[in-house]
Amino acid sequence: MDAPETPATTAVRDTGTPLVHCENAARTYGRGTGAVVAVHGLNCVVPPGARIAVVGPSGSGKSTLLHLMAGLDSPTAGRVSHPGLGVGDAERLARHIGVVFQGPSLLPPLTAAENVALPLRIDGVPEDEADTRARVALARLGLEELGRRLPDELSAGQAQRVAVARVLARRPRLVLADEPTGQLDRETGRQVLSVLLGAASELSAAVLVTTHDPRVAREVGVRWYMADGRLIQPESDDGTGGPAGPLRRSRGGEEP
Ligand SMILES: Nc1ncnc2c1ncn2[C@@H]1O[C@H](COP(=O)(O)OP(=O)(O)OP(=O)(O)O)[C@@H](O)[C@H]1O
Ligand SMILES: [Mg+2]
Repeated sequence: MDAPETPATTAVRDTGTPLVHCENAARTYGRGTGAVVAVHGLNCVVPPGARIAVVGPSGSGKSTLLHLMAGLDSPTAGRVSHPGLGVGDAERLARHIGVVFQGPSLLPPLTAAENVALPLRIDGVPEDEADTRARVALARLGLEELGRRLPDELSAGQAQRVAVARVLARRPRLVLADEPTGQLDRETGRQVLSVLLGAASELSAAVLVTTHDPRVAREVGVRWYMADGRLIQPESDDGTGGPAGPLRRSRGGEEP
């Protein structure tokens, strides 16, 4: 099935300069007979303030899409650009795009508060301000008591909330989260997602979340489906989190 191009064009016109624009983007691993086409024919935009859940079965290309959007990986064909973020050099992308990974991502020798403050210090934020912003971000995630703990001394859910705080403290324009609740129990996952979405709204940041969980997808907003490396979007999707139009179903769709 071909990925639709019309919705992307509509989103560019109706909702401002997109933060991410994928144009027929593909990522192939390896060469020749052993080549694996992880994603192909990707045409989509992420407008400012969008709330998108990308769902699809294991191996359908969700993480690959997210890594391409984050600038952590490059397409082997087509183009991924960030017109709403200015010139797409790595430093600028890292400044404006926060990435939450599924597994542990904190630096083990640093406390929770130091983990949150470090990217701010790298950005040149003065130490006092970085510490204050780290404290505020941790408090927003309900972790004000745990700032002095090392990652080893945190539960998986607490560590993931610190990782979310680290992203939000930097006030990104786009948060890309790869199964951020995948390793958490249902209630903790629900809390992490709710705080992530709430804080992103306060910052007017767009959010794109990959997930296997239909409940998470419903909570986020617009749903995009991936199957066999292709992206299938709702027909009328403008990426803004508003009501979705009729969906093109795929065997990747997990919606009951
Ligand atoms: N480094 C790699 N080398 C070779 N193939 C890869 C590599 N990374 C991913 N792939 C392949 O690309 C395809 C898409 O993988 P991807 O990780 O994007 O899927 P996913 O939808 O995120 O899956 P999951 O839900 O299990 O996280 C899969 O077939 C995978 O095996
Ligand atoms: Mg994945």
